[in-house]
Amino acid sequence: MKKAIVIGASGQIGTELVVELRKRFGNDSIIASDLGTTVKEALKDGPYEQLDVMDADRLRKIIVTHEVQEVYLLAALLSATAEKNPDFAWKLNMEGLFNVLNLAKEGIVKKVFWPSSIAVFGSNTPSDNTPQYTIMEPSTVYGISKLAGERWCEYYAKQYQVDVRSIRYPGLISYTSLPGGGTTDYAVDIFYSAKKNEKYTCFLKEDTALPMMYMEDAIRATIDLMEAPAEDIKIRSSYNLGGISCTPTEIYAAIKQERPSFEIEYNPDFRQKIADSWPSSIDDSHAQSDWGWKGEFDLEKMVKIMLENVLEH
Ligand code: NAD
Ligand code: SER
Repeated sequence: MKKAIVIGASGQIGTELVVELRKRFGNDSIIASDLGTTVKEALKDGPYEQLDVMDADRLRKIIVTHEVQEVYLLAALLSATAEKNPDFAWKLNMEGLFNVLNLAKEGIVKKVFWPSSIAVFGSNTPSDNTPQYTIMEPSTVYGISKLAGERWCEYYAKQYQVDVRSIRYPGLISYTSLPGGGTTDYAVDIFYSAKKNEKYTCFLKEDTALPMMYMEDAIRATIDLMEAPAEDIKIRSSYNLGGISCTPTEIYAAIKQERPSFEIEYNPDFRQKIADSWPSSIDDSHAQSDWGWKGEFDLEKMVKIMLENVLEH
């Protein structure tokens, strides 16, 4: 029986990843874990362990006790929150990764998923259709930690034969769980205002194009990558993943099709500078050819689902 743990399970991605993994592999096979001592409603169908991923001893104990073979490591500080606390962001984002990679190096864990981000790119990176291999000069502590993490993942794969797999997620859009302090969070927040019939104040400029993805696509990509045969995974740093490239105005226009009275204003803050340093669209041809990636959600389809479901969950 597969035994996997999702660390950072109460967050935006973890909540949906745990539910989907449990659907596919059985409730008892998937252990959810996070900092909290109380378990989120959506995670109550299976085992839960309270864990600070920086506590290497407790992490080891949980993995050994449950005979966990696969780790999905989601615990991290995201871009906007990390800029407010750079020292701690670096500590959490790197220490958590090393604690997990070292258990895999020892052979206790057999497979690791660790997410990177479009934040690994910087203002010198070609912004349109950003290639897999290109200039990478991130300007945020979050981006620096993700780029360093990618290099360590590849190092552990090459030097110690650790089976680690990774995706550079775009900004993720979902309705089950709120986003945790990123620069792309506006693309979720806007739906709450639309649903409540309130004017939305966007913290990015109207023409700021960023790569986004509907959560269902991201979860499918994650599990497809983890289930692919090891020999198909040619990239052990992290795979580009494209999704939907759009601006706040384009999301607003798509929402307005459904809610004609919806209004927006723009009041950019410190996150604008972060967004300006990230790509506007991503070339994910390596993910397509190596492990068969294909997205299913475009802007219109995603907007309809978000408007139907946001605030209902
Ligand atoms: P989130 O902030 O919503 O969730 C992170 C979870 O980790 C939270 O539940 C938090 O309580 C938990 N956590 C924090 N510190 C912890 C610790 N010390 N030990 C254990 N758990 C801890 O983040 P998310 O959006 O779900 O992102 C998950 C991962 O995906 C992160 O690595 C993030 O960088 C990456 N990512 C997310 C996006 C996105 O748009 N959501 C895009 C690119 C990459
Ligand atoms: N959505 C994430 C952020 O904005 C991208 O990694 O931080």
